[in-house]
Amino acid sequence: MHMSASINWDTLGFDAYRTRTVILSHFKDGQWSPIEKTETFSFTFDPFAQVFHYAISCFEGLKAFRQKDGRIALFRPDQNAARMARTADYLGMPCPSKEMFIKMCELCVENNLEFLAPYGHKASLYIRPLLVGMHPQMQLVPYPEAIFAVMCAPAGSYYGAHLRSCAAVIPGDFDRAAPKGSGSYKIGANYAATFRPYKYAHEQGYAELLYLNSSTREFVDEFGSSNFFGIKGNKYVTPLSDSVLPSITNLTLQQVARDFGMEVEKRPVPLEELAEFEEAGGCGTAVVITPMSHIDIKPVLAEPLVSRSFRYEPDGQVGPVCTKLYNRIVGIQFGELEDTHGWCHYWLD
Ligand code: PLP
Ligand code: COI
Repeated sequence: MHMSASINWDTLGFDAYRTRTVILSHFKDGQWSPIEKTETFSFTFDPFAQVFHYAISCFEGLKAFRQKDGRIALFRPDQNAARMARTADYLGMPCPSKEMFIKMCELCVENNLEFLAPYGHKASLYIRPLLVGMHPQMQLVPYPEAIFAVMCAPAGSYYGAHLRSCAAVIPGDFDRAAPKGSGSYKIGANYAATFRPYKYAHEQGYAELLYLNSSTREFVDEFGSSNFFGIKGNKYVTPLSDSVLPSITNLTLQQVARDFGMEVEKRPVPLEELAEFEEAGGCGTAVVITPMSHIDIKPVLAEPLVSRSFRYEPDGQVGPVCTKLYNRIVGIQFGELEDTHGWCHYWLD
């Protein structure tokens, strides 16, 4: 077992750290089993289970924070519960109720408290609710059998540093999601398609992939790990597309931007508009806000040619609007700023 004393909270990245307890329930014969806790860190599956052959699997991601006054908060878990229900429905899977989803996230935090950083380290506990199809089968039809498991890992910064700009690339020869496909659902299979392009991108020093809409490639969809936003004067602009994941961080930032008196535009974002933004970045639970230093277009990702480059910040630097948005959202999460919208979920005394 890992002891919290051995964790360096200030250098934590975003990794599949083995914590102590996983919270579990099985859906079988029309009902969820009583909630269990396990410390074995292993599951038993039939080799014919749906998940292995047909990728019947989806997940969520949310964070717990230890706040300035010592309280512990989950950030907007009701939104994650609703999104998982939407994804499960897409996959034809049974899904826990909102109450059960939140209860199991709470239990996961309570049973892994030593992995939640003390206040003051910019670290949190990342919670991963996972829903996987268990039924052994060959037929391509839904079957109501699943495991819902909630696990967690101590998390610091996704790209290796907090609020530091990084580079992104638009791959000319890869798409993320088909029109009318699965792009707006948090299914594991959407991420499988990004592994090879991420490898090419990382080898060339790009931290992120920015995907375009796959039917015409004329509009910005989202990053492989997060939603896209651009800043133009007093406007916060973010893509409206059927193929992007409805990000809870983006939803939150849209409200934060309005609270700052900014205009929010959620609409198709033409590729050409990348040249008009003063700042551009990614937003999501894992990446929080990550400004882009530049976004290159590569007709063939694995080859050297860059056909166009959109420049925002010198490498590593961060623009004023991204800084302001970041400070507000992180300030609310760590209980340093007033949570006027009631986003923090408290359940412990
Ligand atoms: N887009 C993708 C593809 C993601 O994987 C994520 C991460 O969850 C997001 C966007 C951001 O969503 P959220 O802010 O709800 O974490
Ligand atoms: C999250 O931000 O919660 C995610 O799931 C992103 C991850 C796929 C890198």
